[in-house]
Amino acid sequence: MSDFDSDYDYVPAQAEGEWRLPPGLRRALPFYFRRKWVSFGEPIPLFEHLHTVFGRIAHYRFLGTTIVFVNDPDWINEILVTQAGSFVRERTLKRMKILLGEGLITSDDPIHMRQRRIAAPAFHRQRIVGYAEQIVDNAVAARDAWSEGEEIDVADGMMHLSLQIVARTLFDSEVTAEVLSVRDEVNTIMGLYNFLVAFPMLEKVLHLPIPGVVQFRQARRRLDTVVAGMIASRRGMSREVLEGRGDLLSMLMAAVDEGDGTGMSDTQVRDEILTIFLAGYETVANALTWTWYLLSQNPDAADMMYAEVAEVLGTGDAARRATIEDYGRLRYTEMVFAESMRLFPPAWAMGRQSTKPVVLGEYRLPTGSHFFMSQYVMHRSAEFWEAPLEFRPERHTAKAKAARQRFVYFPFGGGGRQCIGEGFAWMEGVLSLATIAQRWRLRFVPKYPVVAQAKITLRPKWPMMMRVEKA
Ligand code: HEM
Repeated sequence: MSDFDSDYDYVPAQAEGEWRLPPGLRRALPFYFRRKWVSFGEPIPLFEHLHTVFGRIAHYRFLGTTIVFVNDPDWINEILVTQAGSFVRERTLKRMKILLGEGLITSDDPIHMRQRRIAAPAFHRQRIVGYAEQIVDNAVAARDAWSEGEEIDVADGMMHLSLQIVARTLFDSEVTAEVLSVRDEVNTIMGLYNFLVAFPMLEKVLHLPIPGVVQFRQARRRLDTVVAGMIASRRGMSREVLEGRGDLLSMLMAAVDEGDGTGMSDTQVRDEILTIFLAGYETVANALTWTWYLLSQNPDAADMMYAEVAEVLGTGDAARRATIEDYGRLRYTEMVFAESMRLFPPAWAMGRQSTKPVVLGEYRLPTGSHFFMSQYVMHRSAEFWEAPLEFRPERHTAKAKAARQRFVYFPFGGGGRQCIGEGFAWMEGVLSLATIAQRWRLRFVPKYPVVAQAKITLRPKWPMMMRVEKA
């Protein structure tokens, strides 16, 4: 137990009136600000420390609330599935409402349930297979833009690729000024996110001339104008025409709730489109970036993946473009992508707040407690993974997956709020990797340190420089 000062700092499990709290930190978190595991804006060292010291559950206090950090797969299942009705979105996520309104990420039931029901068909397997061609088109364009020997920042390259794919599949457009402006305004607002989350009573001061808040307001206004234009240009279209277009925006505008026969208002469409844009763009880009890095560090696994790509898609003059049918055959490539999301899960933690007392095993936690579960910590836990820091795609064979306990691996969350774009993300990841691997290997160039930074997604802190070499 490094950095463990004594039981002066740590309290064992204890009763507090009708509650029974798990072991945890004796004092509120700011008291520990000089410890190396506490650093503003870097929650992963704190989570890892709590996991090392306390194991499967711990608590601490911050700003008058009780925060419970859970590392037990059964209890994660309790929170996300069995007792899901006792939880709502965690406060910091709810703050995103100032950008995302009542979209899937920020809303709670009953709004969430209805929106999810309306949006679900647009993400059905039959629907998303239609996007395979657009994914491959864009991956071909990305790989053809590189030349042998060139040094590229692969993080930047994968952001660009996933933006192209979002533009085509979400808006049915190329990356136009409109799409770039959506990206820029969303980035501006997310850049202000930590400031906005920490701001007391933010919702009440949104109209005041406070720096940061003004910047947020301007970015949101510009964003709303662009998205409103995209929606308005489709509003005159019939349901059949919208469905025929096939892009996600049109699909959401055509969709109706089977229960009451009504569709989404323009505001709801706007909220969902921004939600999907935010949820689907950076996550996939980061997963791909980390995959290229891990492949460069693990040549044996890389050889296996390149051999599979050559076998499935052919080599030399016989090589052909990947199709949706190939997606099902690129099993090892999918295992590589899965293992990359184990070590570097783009969604590195999830939060919930309880609306009722919650019982987890011997513990009884008060209403209003915050609960955090971290994919990053669970995916690297020696309790559940042999040699957890080693890159071993074989951990994800069908047999190994069937034998694995639920919520030891959960890059896409679980329960009623499981990622709606999961199928899309797997397809995008596997087809993009295979298409680029048909032509190139990427060799890591150690110009910058490799540091994972836990922002909204887990991203590399510095550019990820790689040399483009023939496959
Ligand atoms: C590797 C890529 C991705 C990862 C790791 C990922 C991860 C996640 C996770 C963990 C959640 C659940 C959050 C929670 O319960 O608190 C989530 C929700 C969501 N994701 Fe993804 N996601 C990815 C890609 C996508 C894509 C491509 C889309 C859309 C095209 C998307 C759309 C959404 C939406 C709309 C939600 C909210 C669902 C709801 O609450 O009903 N995601 N994602």
